[in-house]
Amino acid sequence: MTMPRFHIIEGDICTMAVDAIVNAANSTLLGGGGVDGVIHRAAGPALLAYCRQLQGCDTGDAKLSPGFLLPARAVIHTVGPVWRGGQQGEAELLASCYRRCIQLAEAEGFKSIAFPAISCGVYAYPHREATEIAVATLRRCTPNSALQNIYLVAFSSEMAAHWAAACAAASPSAGSRHAL
Ligand code: APR
Repeated sequence: MTMPRFHIIEGDICTMAVDAIVNAANSTLLGGGGVDGVIHRAAGPALLAYCRQLQGCDTGDAKLSPGFLLPARAVIHTVGPVWRGGQQGEAELLASCYRRCIQLAEAEGFKSIAFPAISCGVYAYPHREATEIAVATLRRCTPNSALQNIYLVAFSSEMAAHWAAACAAASPSAGSRHAL
């Protein structure tokens, strides 16, 4: 086992045929807007029915569901912190989201996982700080992982640039860019 390869993907996470896509959910796990909304729409109503029995999720934690109608085998739902200025433990809670998602993916024996930029939309986390926390956490918790590929998905070229800068800052050799 080695450190997974990191890939930057610009596009819609719902189209990715990976073992798991990560959903930036809220604590109810009952859907919402943003990437949560598109994942639920693409997965179909069975996802909501399944999530109802998960009984919510704490901020910084993550829970697993099947992918249902999605090309991805599974969805890992995580609840990022709402940005409140940076003095309310947001950085550690965001890092915890990425850590918990990796833990769940490794426990399932997954080889590939795709992340959106957790908390970088409705939850208003500053994009540079959030992507730096994400990449640093992912690299720190996967030195010898069964995961082979980690996809960092951007829904805009601005976010793709943040992912690339965070990967470059973490390691000059990491962070190859692939268009969808
Ligand atoms: N594919 C990939 N990334 C996407 C997609 C998509 N189809 N749609 C949106 N994004 C990006 C956004 O551009 C942003 O960079 O996902 C990132 C996370 O944004 P949000 O989805 O708004 O998630 P977040 O900021 O974590 O807020 C979570 O929003 O949708 C509600 O129910 C959700 O209450 C929760 C809150």
